[in-house]
Amino acid sequence: MDLKNNTILITGGATGIGFALAESLLKLGNKVIICGRREERLAEAKKKLPDIEVKRCDVSKAGERKLLVDWINSNYRETNILVNNAGIQRQVDFKKGAEDLMKSDDEIDINLKAQVYLSAQLVPMLMKRSESAIVNVSSGLGFVPLSRFPVYCATKAAIHSFTLSLRHQLRDTSVKVFEIIPPTVHDTGLKGKPIEKTDWSVSASEVASAAVKGIIEDQYEIAIGPSKAWVSGSREDLDKIFRNINR
Ligand SMILES: NC(=O)c1ccc[n+]([C@@H]2O[C@H](COP(=O)([O-])OP(=O)(O)OC[C@H]3O[C@@H](n4cnc5c(N)ncnc54)[C@H](OP(=O)(O)O)[C@@H]3O)[C@@H](O)[C@H]2O)c1
Repeated sequence: MDLKNNTILITGGATGIGFALAESLLKLGNKVIICGRREERLAEAKKKLPDIEVKRCDVSKAGERKLLVDWINSNYRETNILVNNAGIQRQVDFKKGAEDLMKSDDEIDINLKAQVYLSAQLVPMLMKRSESAIVNVSSGLGFVPLSRFPVYCATKAAIHSFTLSLRHQLRDTSVKVFEIIPPTVHDTGLKGKPIEKTDWSVSASEVASAAVKGIIEDQYEIAIGPSKAWVSGSREDLDKIFRNINR
């Protein structure tokens, strides 16, 4: 797919992987719109990248999603790429019953429902463009779960499954459906603050470069670094990785 002169909406684009993607896609000559919940993060991103357009939106809320879609329809009808990137990750201990599940934002609404509904709401518009795309950000943890993040991993496995079906349903349209599968990324806000760089982690800009290259080459499943082995492993391989990461 040509990654020049597109109009691209990136959810959760003010920080981490979304911001790195916004930066790369702007450099390639695209119009980039980002959204997120925190006004101050959007303002910081706008200061660093003055050419981006920012829009506050909590994509997990139906009403706010509708406002975003209406705003896109009124102001950026030419939008032809949706990057479903917004996500959160929480530790949940089911031994505490529903306590951990109830005490913060809903991972299912943000990581899964928002991607599914936003895709549905924008597909009719994307089908009108001569070349368009939906890019879903899943995770290596959708292929091998880390048990302390049980809901997160389940939402990412669901995103992988959803992406396969969506790609198949849209195969005869102009909408290409990509999946970006990052491994651990050390310099994002997902874990509250950046984490220590390790042999199995990559940076947000490495994810963005691999994603851009994959999309240009029409490689629909873009697994990055250690995720490559997780995506293509046998059941035996995956069980071994599961035991290693959950020790
Ligand atoms: N970091 C990793 O190790 C890793 C690995 C594999 C996959 N991923 C995936 O990569 C994606 C990006 O994460 P990241 O690592 O770059 O973390 P990040 O820096 O925390 O970025 C996530 C972004 O999503 C936004 N967001 C969260 N909830 C939202 C909502 N309800 N509505 C709108 N925006 C929302 C956040 O902004 P606000 O809080 O201001 O809304 C934030 O800008 C996520 O889907 C994540 O699961 C990350």
